[in-house]
Amino acid sequence: MSDDEILGKAYDARLMRRLLTHLRPYWRQVAVALAAILVGSGAALAQPYLVKLAIDDHVATRRLEGLDQLALVYVAVLVVAFAAEYVQTWTLQLTGQRIMFDLRMAVYGHLQRLDLRYYDRNPVGRLMTRVTSDVDVLNDLFTSGVVTIVGDALTLAGIMAVMVWMDWRLAIVAFSVLPLIVLVTQWFRRNVRESYRVVRGWIAKINAFLQENITGMSTVQLFRREALNFARFDDIDRKYRDANIESIFYYAVFYPAIEVTSALATALIIWYGGFSVMRDTLTFGALVAFLQYSQRFFRPISDMSEKFNVLQSAMASSERMFGLLDEPVAIQSPRSPRVRPPTGLGHIAFEHVWFAYRPPTPGTPDEGVEWVLRDVSFDVRPGQRIGIVGATGSGKTTIINLLLRFYDVQKGRITIDGVDLRELDLQEVRSLFSLVLQDVHLFSGTIADNMRLGEQAIDDERVRRAAEAVYAHAFIESMGQGYGSAVAERGSTLSVGQKQLLSFARALAFDRRILVLDEATSSVDTDTEVLIQDALEVLMQGRTTIAIAHRLSTIQDMDQILVLHKGVLRERGSHQELLAQRGIYFRLFELQYRHQSHVTSLKS
Ligand SMILES: Nc1ncnc2c1ncn2[C@@H]1O[C@H](COP(=O)(O)OP(=O)(O)OP(=O)(O)O)[C@@H](O)[C@H]1O
Ligand SMILES: [Mg+2]
Repeated sequence: MSDDEILGKAYDARLMRRLLTHLRPYWRQVAVALAAILVGSGAALAQPYLVKLAIDDHVATRRLEGLDQLALVYVAVLVVAFAAEYVQTWTLQLTGQRIMFDLRMAVYGHLQRLDLRYYDRNPVGRLMTRVTSDVDVLNDLFTSGVVTIVGDALTLAGIMAVMVWMDWRLAIVAFSVLPLIVLVTQWFRRNVRESYRVVRGWIAKINAFLQENITGMSTVQLFRREALNFARFDDIDRKYRDANIESIFYYAVFYPAIEVTSALATALIIWYGGFSVMRDTLTFGALVAFLQYSQRFFRPISDMSEKFNVLQSAMASSERMFGLLDEPVAIQSPRSPRVRPPTGLGHIAFEHVWFAYRPPTPGTPDEGVEWVLRDVSFDVRPGQRIGIVGATGSGKTTIINLLLRFYDVQKGRITIDGVDLRELDLQEVRSLFSLVLQDVHLFSGTIADNMRLGEQAIDDERVRRAAEAVYAHAFIESMGQGYGSAVAERGSTLSVGQKQLLSFARALAFDRRILVLDEATSSVDTDTEVLIQDALEVLMQGRTTIAIAHRLSTIQDMDQILVLHKGVLRERGSHQELLAQRGIYFRLFELQYRHQSHVTSLKS
């Protein structure tokens, strides 16, 4: 069962208390709504009684005098009822919207603090559900749940009290249908609860399916998976529809059943009340009032069983949402961060670093842990250029993930200017680096927006100079609106090389001290490659550089090259030194060189 299918209790005191804390800032509005509900219930109770008075005191006795006033009072009560309902609806909805806003902000704020390990575990679709539909369900709780249930309960109690007060025997006759109501309601709640769980499960599956297949549409179309995926979706969609239809069945039975029971109560009242009227133990007006009260009695009952469902799903949603909010932030700034020595220019050192994506559980032996990095030590002096090479999966990107503190090391430490990364302020650490990734992430917005990412200090002039420096200016100018041209979602309208240049321009505009590059494995055409090489040269000027490269040609001039093999740093030195060692690097170089000349000879 997935998270989305779990339905907890309809009422969980712990969750409820926590939900109510979100209601607390709006206690005034809630108080107003409660007052409105009280007034509204009072008005609802008064109406049948006024009818009784009219009939017994005026119609039956043919006394006209005072009837006008009574009618006026009735109208006044109606107006009050209208006003009360208006105030209640408005304040509750308003409060509900505000609470939803608060909750969405809280969830999003927390999402931004959570570390990458959390995102490794949780699919995007699920997290989006937390911010959107789970919060919406809670709105139902606040607007039609908690507060109005109080109103319903009050109305019910009030009606019962008035009925017993007017004629307890007739009241007992009318209430004799209650066991039937209880049975029907129980049956309904049990089944609807289950079918609701099934419906939620299927909607979660639909979301997951859509998310994956819309994102991967080009792969779907390329491999001609349309028919297959259509059939799969057909299957899920059908089950979703059937689950919905099943829940409709329960509603379709429940409401008429309540109607019939209520009609039964009416029949009983007419039957027994009719006798009472003839035997003069009940006034005719009281009979009419009784009929009206019993009508008003059954609506809250069916309402309440619906609200019970709201309560239930809200509890489940809040459980999931609070689960997210309670997710500990594994990577954060220390309470009192240390400051780097003012003379520090960003000297990076890895000291016997061990790291695994699935960390060893404390207290258990280390065997069986899949170490991605083993005892890695190296250092990068300010201004130095370091290249990292190694086979796919050897741990190159991981080194960068650790350096930027997206993950924390398990053994050893990483220092900047002699201070452990974990003791520094997180913002400060990250603002030392410019990161250019294999996969350039662009946001929807304009080209210029994507270069400054909301940083006020980067003005148009700086944007343009950065773009010019890395040779991105030409292609940007050729785009309809230049720097104001819109970038589609994920930058899908730009070529890989263009995105790469854009990310260089972004890095340059931010002008950070240390440049970190994770080279694209996808190859670009030779012209663009030369362009990117040149741009890179500009970018590296005056900066400490750590560059991961697949094409050895890009890093030959580096001060030092690190060769990573299955998480172990096997060789280090300059290009010439490493060639002389005739080890892994030498073999890599030979392979690429031979491949290169092979390709060249094919081309010519
Ligand atoms: N988020 C993650 N969760 C779990 N394992 C991961 C994660 N990221 C990478 N790995 C694993 O860690 C190992 C090293 O991955 P890494 O991304 O550092 O390789 P790389 O050297 O950058 O490879 P490439 O050259 O293909 O980019 C791989 O075996 C990979 O499967
Ligand atoms: Mg990588």
